[in-house]
Amino acid sequence: MFKKFKKNHHQSQSADIGALDLQKIPQHIAIIMDGNGRWAKQRKMPRVKGHYQGMETIKTITRAASDLNVKYLTLYAFSTENWSRPQEEVNYIMGLPVNFLNTFLPELIEKNVKVETIGFIDELPPKTIQAIEEAKLKTADNTGLTLIFAINYGGRAEIMKGIQNMIKAHKHASDRDIEQLTEQHFAQYLMTSDFPDPDLLIRTSGEQRISNFLIWQLSYSEFIFNDKMWPDFDETELKACIKTYQSRQRRFGGL
Ligand code: FPP
Repeated sequence: MFKKFKKNHHQSQSADIGALDLQKIPQHIAIIMDGNGRWAKQRKMPRVKGHYQGMETIKTITRAASDLNVKYLTLYAFSTENWSRPQEEVNYIMGLPVNFLNTFLPELIEKNVKVETIGFIDELPPKTIQAIEEAKLKTADNTGLTLIFAINYGGRAEIMKGIQNMIKAHKHASDRDIEQLTEQHFAQYLMTSDFPDPDLLIRTSGEQRISNFLIWQLSYSEFIFNDKMWPDFDETELKACIKTYQSRQRRFGGL
C-alpha cells in the first residue's frame, strides 16, 4: 500500500497506464534526459556507455512520440554548463549526434520527422555541426514530428542573447516605444521562436530541477519527474507520463 502511494507520488507508474486520450496528446513535450552516468555506474561501466545507451533511448522515444502524433519533441542533449565535464566525456558526447544521424537519419526521413536545434551550434566541433546541418537540410520539408535537439543550450544565455538582439533592433526607439514591447515580441528573439511552448516537461532519474532548460518557455508547462534513468526510459514510461499529464488541469493562471 505504502509502496503504491510512493510510486504514484513520484509519477513513475509503469504498470496499468490505461488507454490514452488521443485527443489530448501534448503538442510539445520537452525532456531533460538525466541519469546516463548513474545508469552506467550501476552497471560498473564507463559513463560514456550510459551516453551511448541514452542515444539509443532517443531513437525509441522519437519513434514513440511520432507514433503518438506529438508535434514537437525537445531534448536537452548538452547544456552550456556541460563543457566543464572531463574532456574525454565531452568529446564522446559531441560524437553522438554524428553516430545518431548516421544510423537513424533514413528512419527520420521515412517517418516524416523534421530535425531542428536550439543552442549555440556554431561553437560545436565541425564534425558535429556538419552532421546536424545535413540532417536539417534533408528533413527541412518534413511535416510530421519536429525533433529539436538543445545542444550547447542554456536558458539564461538564450535570454541574454535575445535581449542583446532586441536592444540592437530598437536602438533608436523612444522610451515610450520600448515600454510598448510585449512578451510575444520578446519571444521572437528566443531560439524557440518557431515553436510553441512545451505543454509537458519530463525529467528522468528522479532529480527535480530545471537546470537552466527553457526557463522562459516552461512558465505554464506541466512538470513530471520520472524515476527511471534515461537509458531505461521507454515507450511505456512515456505513455505513463502522458497519462499523468492528461489527469492534470491546466489553468494558465485562470480559474
Ligand atoms: C545527462 O546524464 C545526460 C547528458 C548530459 C548527455 C545526454 C546526451 C545524450 C543522451 C546523447 C546526445 C545525442 C544526440 C543525438 C544529440 P548525466 O551524465 O548527467 O547522468 P548522471 O546525472 O547520472 O551523471
